[in-house]
Amino acid sequence: MAIEIVPTGAALGAEIRGLDLRLDLDVESIDIVKRAWRDHLVLSIRDQDISDADLVRFSEYFGRLRLAPLGEARMRGRSRSPDGYPEVAIISNVIRDGLPIGSLGNAEAIWHTDMSYIEEPIMGAILYALEVPRSGGDTGFANMYLAYETLPDELRSTLEGRVCLHDGSLNSAGFPRQGYEEVTDVTRTPGARHPLFRTHPETGRPALFLGRRRNAYIPGLVVEESEALLDAVWAHATQSAFTWRHRWRVGDLLMWDNRAVLHRRDAFDDGERRVMHRTQIEGDRPYYERA
Ligand code: SIN
Repeated sequence: MAIEIVPTGAALGAEIRGLDLRLDLDVESIDIVKRAWRDHLVLSIRDQDISDADLVRFSEYFGRLRLAPLGEARMRGRSRSPDGYPEVAIISNVIRDGLPIGSLGNAEAIWHTDMSYIEEPIMGAILYALEVPRSGGDTGFANMYLAYETLPDELRSTLEGRVCLHDGSLNSAGFPRQGYEEVTDVTRTPGARHPLFRTHPETGRPALFLGRRRNAYIPGLVVEESEALLDAVWAHATQSAFTWRHRWRVGDLLMWDNRAVLHRRDAFDDGERRVMHRTQIEGDRPYYERA
């Protein structure tokens, strides 16, 4: 079956048709997916029926996998991964034996970049839907190339050359992560520092690189100035013209380029079940080369 790429028509995203991810892909097909991913930043592949082994095999076409990140403190040591697959993170609101089986619960997950609180954030993530709520729980994406290209001049020149401190203490749904203290002073936020603009290592294009708004701080500025600048750049980056959202069906797989998109997730009714399995592909240290 021929592979077809169908752009969403929005600021980013495309659907890839004609793939069965239970099977090995040949070199040519992998190359088509890689090119489409580079061009559209987010890809959806629908109507799949895959195991964790299939998810891992497909993910490894794009790089080395990173183990599932630290879980939420409320998981109290429960593994975030299905048995035998430490590289697969479970994202779910399901509670078993009094403890969550995965992270993020049913709350809204605010706009974020995955794992930007570490020195070498992942280059991308692949998320597969096993159970989805009847409504809510959509995942939205925002194109950070466009956000960079359309930055007002004054904001661009103020941010040029600056870094941002990326919080590791809270995940995108606001749950504390294991092993982190609560942040009471953003100048001491625990997490990595990254340039606010980053050069995409494959395309050479500059993108805004924001992480999470909560507890972020621009070192070298007084807190009020940092807060005002961050509010302005976040409002610019997440405007609807740069976004697209995915309404999930069971069997959907989504992959996003974590170096050039932000993503978020809508809340949903906690009486419904949402179970997703995610892999994380290793990335490298963000850098910025002024054009
Ligand atoms: C994530 O933020 O990695 C998960 C997004 C989702 O659950 O839709």
